[in-house]
Amino acid sequence: MSCIIKTESEIKKMRISGKLAAEVLEMVEKHLKPNISTEDINQICHDYIFYEKKALSACLGYHGFPKSICTSINDVVCHGIPSKKQILKEGDIINIDITIIKNNYHGDTSKMFLIGKTSILSKRLCQVAQESLYRSLKIIQPGIPLYKIGEVIQNYVEKNNFSIVKEYCGHGIGRNFHEEPHVLHYKNKENNVILEKGMIFTIEPMINSGHSQVKCMKDGWTVKTKDRSLSAQYEHTILVTEYGCDILTWQKNERISPTLFNKK
Ligand code: MF3
Ligand code: CO
Ligand code: CO
Repeated sequence: MSCIIKTESEIKKMRISGKLAAEVLEMVEKHLKPNISTEDINQICHDYIFYEKKALSACLGYHGFPKSICTSINDVVCHGIPSKKQILKEGDIINIDITIIKNNYHGDTSKMFLIGKTSILSKRLCQVAQESLYRSLKIIQPGIPLYKIGEVIQNYVEKNNFSIVKEYCGHGIGRNFHEEPHVLHYKNKENNVILEKGMIFTIEPMINSGHSQVKCMKDGWTVKTKDRSLSAQYEHTILVTEYGCDILTWQKNERISPTLFNKK
């Protein structure tokens, strides 16, 4: 069992796993064009993780999940299963969620990709989802309670008239895919664990253009918005540091700094 506070040697491995997960997202971007199937995207990511990075997908076989990545298009909130029958088209928005295992440690990250010309609403939804994650990262430092993260996300998302999915949350991560603590994306004062240096967890807000309610499809995995409105999600794995946080899954093309310090 790994503990909620990671040791130096665990942190070293988590940095490697996080970077590797981010590199999958960097690599896959050039393949995401109209007419590619989500199964082909899955295969490309699988081969890259397994053959080039000598790592494993944590999703494949996780509670019976049948593929190596999650691909969630438009009204799919999360856990979309790649399929030969599902073809990307101009105007789609797709979340690709990558979780890898290297040296027994996990890295978990996801982002939205906009396919060709997309609607103003789609663009705004993705922008607000990403910005809500970034704003929460900026307040992280030892001593604050976990619910502050949810508070920042909720305030920003609701100010922009979008809704937050309540059924899924961020999570501690390490040797296990999902560990304590739960990281809620809305304010709940019971989510009161105090952040400490050495904690590693994900933040992964899912936000909808319509109502917040979701439903799970008959395949047992695919989660959609109940009202079929659009949904967007961004996810990072982060380490709490002495003065702020390090984004372990930071991608080279991100505008935010991978080490966020809170200056007094
Ligand atoms: N990567 C997701 C998360 O952020 C979990 C996917 S579980 C799977 O926690 F089985 F669907 F892959
Ligand atoms: Co996660
Ligand atoms: Co994930």
